[in-house]
Amino acid sequence: VSPRQSQVRELLVHLDRSGQAPISRQLEEQLREAIQDGRLESGQTLPSTRMLAEDLAVSRGVVVRAYTQLAAEGYVTMRQGTNPSVGAIGTPLAETALREQADPSPRLRYDLRPERPDLSQFPRGDWLRSVRHALNRATDAELGYADCRGLHVLRQELARYLARARGLAITADRIVITVGSTHALTLIEHVLHRRGERTIGLENPSHELMHRLARRCGLEPVGIAVDEEGLRVDALVASRVTAVVVSPAHQFPTGVAYTAERRAELARWAEETGGLILEDDYDAEFRYDRSPIGALQGLAPERVAYIGSTSKTLIPGLRLGWVVLPSALIDDVATELGESMLHHSALEQLAFADFLRRGELDRHLRRMRLLYRRRRDSLVTALARAAPQFPVSGTAAGLHLLLELPSAGDEASACAHASKHGIAVQCVGDHTLPGYGGVRGLLIGYGTLQEAAVDLAVRELASALAVTPSMARNDSAGSAAAGLLARVA
Ligand SMILES: Cc1ncc(COP(=O)(O)O)c(C=O)c1O
Repeated sequence: VSPRQSQVRELLVHLDRSGQAPISRQLEEQLREAIQDGRLESGQTLPSTRMLAEDLAVSRGVVVRAYTQLAAEGYVTMRQGTNPSVGAIGTPLAETALREQADPSPRLRYDLRPERPDLSQFPRGDWLRSVRHALNRATDAELGYADCRGLHVLRQELARYLARARGLAITADRIVITVGSTHALTLIEHVLHRRGERTIGLENPSHELMHRLARRCGLEPVGIAVDEEGLRVDALVASRVTAVVVSPAHQFPTGVAYTAERRAELARWAEETGGLILEDDYDAEFRYDRSPIGALQGLAPERVAYIGSTSKTLIPGLRLGWVVLPSALIDDVATELGESMLHHSALEQLAFADFLRRGELDRHLRRMRLLYRRRRDSLVTALARAAPQFPVSGTAAGLHLLLELPSAGDEASACAHASKHGIAVQCVGDHTLPGYGGVRGLLIGYGTLQEAAVDLAVRELASALAVTPSMARNDSAGSAAAGLLARVA
């Protein structure tokens, strides 16, 4: 409902009845102030004189006098047969100010950030059906203080889905429902800290959010190098950490899919050393060219905490995630969660259980996989045409790819140029830990990139690439840059 259509029923007015100032003057002043500072916005319908008089326990004449004065000043519009409404005077500014507070981001022409699914594709009708079902069928017990690990019915449905779609070795009692993957990671990292750990291994590079999250839990991140086959297990051994966070299906941000050998080597490391692997399976459902690879958890269920969420498959706004735990962690994680009381809403858990049971997630994923794949293919084709000198990698899965660039300076310069022209991208350098010496480049998300916009977006990106230091240093810089632009013109 836009402010223009909304009707104000609750209005906080404080009247001093000690007789100092006339009541109608007090009401008039408070309404004027609310309109001036934007609490009441232009077009909003105000309570009728009768209703407001009743609410404030004053005579109707008091309200009529206040409204009439404000109408004379243009703050209120009065029309025969309808309720008064807030007039246009002074309010556009307030309206803009309120909007700006709600949406501080400047308008983007192209949002190519790597972790964005297409929110417009959320199957609202199907979800609504599941929400209705949840409300109709919820037992009273399910609406109370239920098991902090999540409702059993959802954990059962998830166990079926994760075994079937991601190859997990799993039973419902190993699952804990969380408020997204980051919540799951926070819970485990708090437990590790309580057990005396002070460091944690993170892929280098890895999502910068993971770096901050580990530090907030009292664990210092130790960067472990990633190569084109996955996490370097020799570097992991040398680091002497006992727990490591990995994203084997589609490494964030490089996009590398761990090879079978590397996954086996990592599982062996955990089995032999008693190490713990936190598997962040954030966008594995979207795998395009080869058959999907099962989760690492299936190889070593007692050594892997598997973490997933609906943030990429559906929408981040649901804040719904899960962790499948090795038995040695279940009690401590449940205690950590139970004491925080920060559980996911029971009604949405029930809705998601119904959504899974009906096969809606499967149907949605099949549809989205096709859509994202087409977007990826168009983007890869356009990049190959516009910037053939820069290799593209990390395309096998997920919602973003990596356009490799020669240096850190190139990626920083390309990102800054793109951002100045209203294109949001990220670069590898946004996600590195100290000691990083690997691949560099732009992370280009295609989750929200309409196919019709691909060529235009790539043309803009190509002009950002044309001014990178490497291109400028190149002997034939002028002609290379011109050629780059010509190919996309
Ligand atoms: C690598 C990675 N893991 C996990 C997540 C998802 O976090 P959450 O499930 O808390 O939304 C993201 C989101 O951007 C991500 O990029």
